[in-house]
Amino acid sequence: MSRDDAATHTDDRPTPVLEARRLTKSFGHVRAMVDADFELMPGEVLAVIGDNGAGKSTLVKALSGALIPDQGEILLEGHPVHFRSPLEARGQGIETVYQDLAVAPALDIASNLFLGREIRRPGLLGTLLRVVDARAMRTEAKHQLDALGVRIPDVRQPVESLSGGQRQSVAVARAAAFGTRLVIMDEPTAALGVRESGMVLDLIRRISGRGLPVVLISHNMPQVFDIADRIHIHRLGSRVAVVSPRTHTMADAVAIMTGAATPDEVGGRSHFDERAGRRDRPGVQGEPTSRALPGPDGATDHGLPEQESPR
Ligand SMILES: Nc1ncnc2c1ncn2[C@@H]1O[C@H](COP(=O)(O)OP(=O)(O)OP(=O)(O)O)[C@@H](O)[C@H]1O
Ligand SMILES: [Mg+2]
Repeated sequence: MSRDDAATHTDDRPTPVLEARRLTKSFGHVRAMVDADFELMPGEVLAVIGDNGAGKSTLVKALSGALIPDQGEILLEGHPVHFRSPLEARGQGIETVYQDLAVAPALDIASNLFLGREIRRPGLLGTLLRVVDARAMRTEAKHQLDALGVRIPDVRQPVESLSGGQRQSVAVARAAAFGTRLVIMDEPTAALGVRESGMVLDLIRRISGRGLPVVLISHNMPQVFDIADRIHIHRLGSRVAVVSPRTHTMADAVAIMTGAATPDEVGGRSHFDERAGRRDRPGVQGEPTSRALPGPDGATDHGLPEQESPR
């Protein structure tokens, strides 16, 4: 067994569904990712939090083929992958709701839902001429949206005629309908009202209930603490800790996220250790401490503000 293998598979913990090691990506002088690690375990809801500009979206894009990292490796169920486009990642069952490029605005809702996997007409029309079966796609789109509780009056509407929140719902529904291995959502509730945000959280629970792991990037701490099994904290381009809502408060997480505290200065025990059973870079994953665990009501700590970027 190589050193690398030994670092990841020394015990009987399950193989991560998706894993990244030491991803690095620069845009000119901006180092958006610096040795970023990532691990998504089977069946979990993993939240990714971090300040504006911390590199969360860059990480998501690298994991889903929307950008190619300069360095580092990505493993899907233990096997190295090199996605060159989001379509390739989707072909492997990874569905992503991007923060900035959720849908194709000029197309109707049904076409958006089936983007890249259109239903073709039966017979030669479909196989030879690749004619899409618009009616079948509309019926199926309606079925999918209904099943997911997304209320949209007419699936023939172009997406550009929808509100921001409705567009985001379509993107989320698409991911939920087609994700077969995992679903990644980059701030899916940022443009949503209270009811719609609740709906997306329900959707995440339902996806998770189907056994699919979900990655949720969010600035909304109450949502994160409500829904996540583990919380990956990103800071200045890399993962600095993985904590659990059961052992850490929102204040702990925000302190680590902003650099006000190091992982070992805040209370709690790293969920990373508990679940994944390793600490390959001491301190980085959040060292366990001998301090008393925060009380359960610590998690309702002061409505935490959206963090302003210090930069
Ligand atoms: N295509 C790009 N070209 C140049 N710089 C980029 C590009 N994409 C990201 N960056 C820079 O990389 C850094 C990380 O950006 P990223 O979008 O990943 O942050 P984020 O954590 O998702 O932030 P937010 O919470 O605001 O969405 C930022 O400084 C950003 O300006
Ligand atoms: Mg982002």
